[in-house]
Amino acid sequence: MFILSFGLVGYGYWGPNLARVIHNTSTCSFSALCDLDKSNLDKCKQIYPHILATADYNEILNNPDIDAIFIATPVHTHYSLAKQALLKNKHVFIEKPITSNTFEAKQLQLLAKEKNKILMAGHTFIYSGPVIKIKEIIQEGTIGDPLYFHSNRVNLGKCHADVNVIWDLAAHDFSILEYLFESEISWAQVTGKKFVDNKNECLAYINLELENKVYAHMHVSWISPIKSRSIVIGGTKGMITYDDHILTDKVRVYDKQVSVDHLEQFTYKDKGCFIPNIDLSEPLSTEIKHFQQCILHNRQPITDIRFGLKVLKGLELTDISLANQGRKVFAMEHTLMEKTAVGFKQKKKSDVKKKLKTI
Ligand SMILES: NC(=O)c1ccc[n+]([C@@H]2O[C@H](COP(=O)([O-])OP(=O)(O)OC[C@H]3O[C@@H](n4cnc5c(N)ncnc54)[C@H](O)[C@@H]3O)[C@@H](O)[C@H]2O)c1
Repeated sequence: MFILSFGLVGYGYWGPNLARVIHNTSTCSFSALCDLDKSNLDKCKQIYPHILATADYNEILNNPDIDAIFIATPVHTHYSLAKQALLKNKHVFIEKPITSNTFEAKQLQLLAKEKNKILMAGHTFIYSGPVIKIKEIIQEGTIGDPLYFHSNRVNLGKCHADVNVIWDLAAHDFSILEYLFESEISWAQVTGKKFVDNKNECLAYINLELENKVYAHMHVSWISPIKSRSIVIGGTKGMITYDDHILTDKVRVYDKQVSVDHLEQFTYKDKGCFIPNIDLSEPLSTEIKHFQQCILHNRQPITDIRFGLKVLKGLELTDISLANQGRKVFAMEHTLMEKTAVGFKQKKKSDVKKKLKTI
């Protein structure tokens, strides 16, 4: 059996999940960790004493036995860490959102192509049983033509210093939208508030429309007393609910709809709901096995860099709207922004915001 050797950068909140799943996957070996925080290195070493644990990234990069690197560090560090890994001929898996801006992601896309290496975006929900089942149900036509998507992704913390709540939590919803509908965003209108640190929005409401006319609303918050991870999708014939916070029966399909006839009489259909069977394998495990298969067979991942770029484009549209007091912004404005000399390539978020306001 061919075993791939994986290194991980970042052992904060999310890194331990990646380490556990890599370690538990029989065809992978968790071989090395880099983290700048010594206490996190020590924590990891206690569970996996066999690994190389270091604060010096070069020790991993220069190790010829390591095939691929997982990046689970703050977003602003992703580009540099991924670039160094690709330059050392490693395959790379970058946690969502892949980079701080589309400019950086496109640079990595070119480099991965030049080096013929797999570059995968970590969008875990796309490998989850419920999301895969919802896509099947929509494609089978069970709910007719999709009309709307409504998501609620709220909890108390964890507040990030380098991104706002949209880049942290709504990144998941943008990935699910892209996977389910494969349709570009036409426009977005976003409001948010910086109640905690005056730097990043910790509460936001996003409205947008896709080119296929699906109307979407996302509510994200780091300051909610309760945790909620729910999605409602409505169609011309039925509706779907997805509650990720419950253990079983996460997805329900409702044979419910309201319509109006030629006499302007409303008709309500309510024929109950059914609960589809869902694969409840751990999404992270499916995702990591997919990355491994893509490396072994030189195939593009489902969530490849193009997929990651679509999510980034949605997130950057929200930045433009936020910087313009919640104005409705069209996809064309993102394209114009990319074409300007400055574009999205500044590293400093404050510079980008100044530029966005001038649009
Ligand atoms: N797929 C998911 O469902 C999911 C869930 C949570 C977080 N994430 C993503 O994972 C990434 C990490 O998030 P987190 O919440 O774990 O962050 P975190 O701040 O809790 O942990 C980051 C870790 O990286 C280390 N680090 C920072 N800069 C480094 C560098 N240059 N070199 C080596 N180590 C460095 C820090 O010491 C820390 O241990 C983010 O991109 C986040 O969006 C994904």
